[in-house]
Order: sequence, then structure tokens, then C-alpha cells
Amino acid sequence: MQNWAKSLWRCQELLVLDADKLSAAPSNRQKVAITDDERNPMSQPVRVAFVGTGGIAGSHLKQLVKMNDASAEPLVQIAAVCDVDETRASAFAESCGATGIYTDHRTLLDKEADELDALYICVPPFAHADVEILATQAGLHLFVEKPVVLELDQGLQILEAIRAAGVMSSVGYTLRYRHPWRTARDLLHERQIAMLSADRWGGMPGEGHWWRDYNKSGGQLHEQTTHQVDCMRWVAGDVVTVFARYGHQVAQSIPSLSVPDSQIVVLEFASGAVGYVSTSCVLRQGGGLNQMQVLLEDARIDVGRELIIQPEDALAMPAAYDGDDIDGAFIRAVASGDRSHILCDYEEGLKTAAVSIAANQSAASGQAEHCWNG
Ligand SMILES: NC(=O)c1ccc[n+]([C@@H]2O[C@H](COP(=O)([O-])OP(=O)(O)OC[C@H]3O[C@@H](n4cnc5c(N)ncnc54)[C@H](O)[C@@H]3O)[C@@H](O)[C@H]2O)c1
Repeated sequence: MQNWAKSLWRCQELLVLDADKLSAAPSNRQKVAITDDERNPMSQPVRVAFVGTGGIAGSHLKQLVKMNDASAEPLVQIAAVCDVDETRASAFAESCGATGIYTDHRTLLDKEADELDALYICVPPFAHADVEILATQAGLHLFVEKPVVLELDQGLQILEAIRAAGVMSSVGYTLRYRHPWRTARDLLHERQIAMLSADRWGGMPGEGHWWRDYNKSGGQLHEQTTHQVDCMRWVAGDVVTVFARYGHQVAQSIPSLSVPDSQIVVLEFASGAVGYVSTSCVLRQGGGLNQMQVLLEDARIDVGRELIIQPEDALAMPAAYDGDDIDGAFIRAVASGDRSHILCDYEEGLKTAAVSIAANQSAASGQAEHCWNG
């Protein structure tokens, strides 16, 4: 992939892996049932496995290594990994000292679940299959990457399994844990919002990547711009109806690309607020956008690299958020049994996915479509 495409596609940092810190934790420990009952927080490392060891799994691993580095005792141990690509699974395991290496999540769960506390599920949208359901049945807490599914029915089954098992879940909506998005939420979520919009314009990954296949990724809105949709829901509440129009002007001349290249969706919120999202993957040489705008009576708030209030004195700026990142919050929740650290659980993540699932239906039907909201 070209450099420009890489940076427009995803700004993922290089992985800095530290095998020693992650393998330092003792193995063959007795499984601790982590529920809401008392557990001595951080008294022993949280034992996790990864299913899917590609780009985002590497980013999580980097954060987990940082957590261990910052602590006198290891807080987390990677015990096992699984990827359908065995070479990738082995390289990942080697980088973090994991001893269990698998190419099928069912085998991983059969052999390792008793020794695990939690599972990171970092597979593409089309590949979730039964991994969440089997893991919850084994009593594991779940970290699931966004978007949580391609089809609402599958998400509802997983949600039911999570509820039945009583395990904790966290979904990879990282913006919720970052200033200025978290600060914007603190500022806005109880105010009357008139209108909001979000734009994510960028590039696309190279030929052969699953993302370019609409049946595998669900398209840019569902797979990537879901971050912005999630923040819109987070500040403005549930979306009840969507109306979508998608363009293929550029895509039609690009080989093996079945996602639309440009997507516009009008959103109607339960609160009465209205909004829209625009997203496009046609840029090749810069000019990208990643922002949200919110309009209140007599004030406009822009959220992107910074949080800007216009006019400046219209609202008091809350303190900038500098709390846990998404991995710290999840591991701390599993270690302590305190769910309040998690800002987006599976139900919330599914509600966000339901917006882009409904948008894809609307683009196909030509009609406005209702969104599932629990
Ligand atoms: N939260 C974020 O900011 C963020 C950033 C990037 C990606 N993601 C999400 O993470 C997910 C994965 O994206 P990625 O960029 O890591 O993709 P990737 O292609 O780099 O990695 C996915 C990995 O999953 C493996 N895989 C596929 N099917 C599998 C299966 N059934 N069992 C085990 N492994 C399987 C692949 O072989 C690959 O190694 C996507 O849903 C994406 O949207 C989230």
C-alpha cells in the first residue's frame, strides 16, 4: 500500500512489543471467577487471549505492554492467541510470550478457557461467527472490536448470551476515552442539541484487503465512520430513523472495490435533534476530515483534534479528560469487577452498529429505515 494511503486509511502507531513484561506473569493459575463479588484488585494479572492478531490486536497489545511497564507487578498476561493465519498468530505469540497458539477459536476456548479471565476479539466484521457466544458460555469477559457485527440478528443473539452469562463487555470505540471527544460528551450530553453532523473523509486500503468488499466490511460508514456515529449517539442519544444515499462515482473505475466511495446519511434522534454524517474514501493525497459539529441554541461546538466553542464564552469548558485509555479501563474493570470503568459495552456498541446497518438498508431500499435501540 502507498504511504499516503496508509496514513489516510488508518493512523496506527508502530508496535513496540515487550515479551518479557507480558510473559512474566505466572502460568497454570487457578481460574478466578471475576464477577461483581469481591476480588482483591490487581492482586494477580488478568489473563487474556486474543482472537485475531492483525493491526488492531497489535495496538491493544502495545497498550497492555505499557500498562505492565508502568506497574511494579504485571497487571495482564497474554496466555494464548488465535488467528486463521498461523504465521501471524505465531509472530504475535512470540512478541508477547503467549504459549497457546491456535488457528481455530473453538480449540483455543476448549483448551484454554479455564485459565482465562477475558478474550480480546479483534477479527474483521464478517468473521465474528460464534466466538462471542462460546466465550461467554465459558464465563469470559469480552473486549470486542467495532463494528460488533454485520447483521443485527447476530448481534442480538450475542447480546442475549452476554446478558445470560453476566460477563462484562467492552467495545472498541476508542474516541470515548480520548480528549476532546470525552470532554465534548461531558459538556453536551444533558444539553438540548438542535443539530449535529460528522464527517470522515479519507482513503482506502490496498487491493485484496477485506475492507474493500462490501459483504465483508459493510462499507466505510459501518466499518470506520462508526466511530463518529458512536460519538453522535453518545452526546445526542438514540437514533430512531435514518435515510441514506450512497455514491459510486469513483469506485466504479477501481478494480475489486464493492464498497460505495461516498455515503451521506440523515439521522433523526429520539430527542428531536436532527443530524447527518458524510464519509468518503476517495482521497489519495491528503485533505482528510475527521470531525463532529454540534449546534446548540446560540453556540456551536466543533470536535476534532481540538474542542472549540463558538462564541468562546457561550459555555464553560469542562476539564480536559485524562483518564484511562480503552485497554486500561477494560483490564481494570475485569480485575476489580467494577463495570463503571467501561464507557461502551456490547449493548451500546450494537446500538451504534444498528445505525449503519439501518443506513445500508435505507440505501438499498430507497426508504427511511427505523433503527434498533434495545
Ligand atoms: N478501535 C479502533 O480504533 C480500530 C482500529 C482498527 C481496526 N479496528 C477493528 O478491528 C477489526 C480488525 O481490524 P484490523 O485492522 O486488525 O484487521 P486486520 O486485517 O489487520 O486483522 C484481522 C485479523 O483477523 C484474522 N482473522 C480473520 N478471521 C478470523 C477468524 N475467524 N478467527 C481468527 N482470526 C481471524 C485475520 O487473519 C487477521 O490477522 C475490524 O473490525 C476493525 O474495524 C478497530
